[in-house]
Amino acid sequence: MTRRNVLLCFVLIILSVHTENPIWSNLPEHLRPLLQLLNPEYSSKPIAQVLREVLQAKFQRKDLRCSSSSRYIRDCICTTYQKLDDIDVLFVEMDNNSILIESSTSYHSYYHIYTFENDLSSFPSNICEFPKIVKIDLSFNKITDIDLVSCITFLDTFILNHNLFEYLSNTTFLHLKFIRVIYLSHNRLKFIEPGFLINVNGSLFEFDVSYNYLTTLDITNILWTQIIFCQADFSHNSINSITNVLNWKSQDNSTFSFHGVMDGSFNNLTHFSMFNENGLNLKHAGKLENWAIFARGNHWICDCKVYPFAKSVELFVPVFSQLYFFMTCDSPRKLKNKTFFDIVAASALDQLVCHLSLADWCPPQCRCFYQPALENRTVVDCSGSKITRFSSVLSLYGNLEINFSNNSLRNEID
Ligand SMILES: *[C@@H]1O[C@H](CO)[C@@H](O)[C@H](O)[C@H]1NC(C)=O
Ligand SMILES: *[C@@H]1O[C@H](CO)[C@@H](O)[C@H](O)[C@H]1NC(C)=O
Ligand SMILES: *[C@@H]1O[C@H](CO)[C@@H](O)[C@H](O)[C@H]1NC(C)=O
Ligand SMILES: *[C@@H]1O[C@H](CO)[C@@H](O)[C@H](O)[C@H]1NC(C)=O
Ligand SMILES: *[C@@H]1O[C@H](CO)[C@@H](O)[C@H](O)[C@H]1NC(C)=O
Ligand SMILES: *[C@@H]1O[C@H](CO)[C@@H](O)[C@H](O)[C@H]1NC(C)=O
Ligand SMILES: *[C@@H]1O[C@H](CO)[C@@H](O)[C@H](O)[C@H]1NC(C)=O
Ligand SMILES: *[C@@H]1O[C@H](CO)[C@@H](O)[C@H](O)[C@H]1NC(C)=O
Ligand SMILES: *[C@@H]1O[C@H](CO)[C@@H](O)[C@H](O)[C@H]1NC(C)=O
Repeated sequence: MTRRNVLLCFVLIILSVHTENPIWSNLPEHLRPLLQLLNPEYSSKPIAQVLREVLQAKFQRKDLRCSSSSRYIRDCICTTYQKLDDIDVLFVEMDNNSILIESSTSYHSYYHIYTFENDLSSFPSNICEFPKIVKIDLSFNKITDIDLVSCITFLDTFILNHNLFEYLSNTTFLHLKFIRVIYLSHNRLKFIEPGFLINVNGSLFEFDVSYNYLTTLDITNILWTQIIFCQADFSHNSINSITNVLNWKSQDNSTFSFHGVMDGSFNNLTHFSMFNENGLNLKHAGKLENWAIFARGNHWICDCKVYPFAKSVELFVPVFSQLYFFMTCDSPRKLKNKTFFDIVAASALDQLVCHLSLADWCPPQCRCFYQPALENRTVVDCSGSKITRFSSVLSLYGNLEINFSNNSLRNEID
């Protein structure tokens, strides 16, 4: 099988197993042109030409091109560039306040701005007089506030790496319908307002907030609904929880981006709290199966909470040699360094257990654990303990297995 067929097969299997709409014809309309690219009928036209046509049509942007060596839509999305004929550079003049200066030969066309290591602490004061700025690169400055960018309605590329801003509002880029690249790495970003990425509906392909101070990430900033994107990079932050501030809930008719890379590696995550009845329902998770998710370098705890997700992907492991989900368990010790894929492939789902403590009503001197893989059982192992009384502990749990062996326990469960 060629890679393309494997991908096609992957999409089909996932769609037929995980969603309510098993057949091609029930695919959401907006995804059909992308899937047609996998169809050999198209081979009569050069693939690069087809990709360019799809790119321009789907995003309604004649100014976009992608690398002519692209073979797949995802290569194309990840190599796009903007092609405009009449571009001038605006100069930043440092005064007490910085201002933008046009060169005398300017044709009043589109503009680029670049200035590095200029100690700018805010945008040039007259920036809103130039809505046709298409590219801004003000990396290595000291900018603390980016809200003003929302007046630059033609903006395509916004690069502000190595600055000092802390807060990203969900309205700043809302009306910039041409924004394609947002690079904000190495700032002091502590918070991204919820509802930012899920509402993006233009041609945002690259979003980079790596190397910042984020500690939470809202589910509405992980999931995208724009037809396709290239990459969202949240790596190298301190994210320790996935929130759902707006109480967002996936629906049977929810649609997500067809493909994209989500990089959450090198953070402080321990559990996938993303899959939840009050968030992304597991039965809709298959809609993300073409995404690649990088999640290495976190402190993943591979316990009973991972089980439902593991169970749902178990089916695909014999068919595919790798899942596009890259994480490595940090604990328990027995599973350390195992990938999620290793566990599922080795049918080791029974090792996904949660130990219960006194606080969960496990009797002292006993060992208790919940093991969903084996008939959803909860084991209370008091064997060999000196325990003589046993009241109605753990009665909150179903399918209890209690080991009485080798002690003089009197069962007082009623
Ligand atoms: C620069 O701005 C600061 C505060 O905005 C002001 O106090 C100062 O006098 C200004 N300096 C010049 C040279 O304009
Ligand atoms: C933007 O964030 C605020 C909370 O900070 C929230 O109330 C609002 O609903 C969000 N907007 C969208 C469009 O999600
Ligand atoms: C996204 O924008 C396109 C074109 O502007 C529009 O046709 C489509 O309905 C929008 N999709 C959503 C989910 O808002
Ligand atoms: C999806 O379904 C919900 C109810 O199940 C409905 O309220 C909503 O309008 C639907 N959305 C779309 C885009 O069809
Ligand atoms: C993230 O995890 C590291 C290593 O466990 C720890 O040193 C650090 O304090 C954590 N950071 C936050 C913000 O929780
Ligand atoms: C896990 O991997 C790290 C780094 O590769 C290594 O130092 C460590 O010994 C490994 N631990 C186990 C239990 O295999
Ligand atoms: C029963 O428990 C005693 C001590 O509590 C221990 O010495 C003995 O080996 C145990 N026997 C079995 C069969 O586990
Ligand atoms: C498995 O057991 C837990 C705890 O006893 C219970 O909450 C859950 O509903 C059970 N799940 C199934 C599928 O039986
Ligand atoms: C109960 O515990 C004893 C001693 O640890 C063990 O030999 C036996 O297999 C256990 N029984 C069950 C049903 O797990």
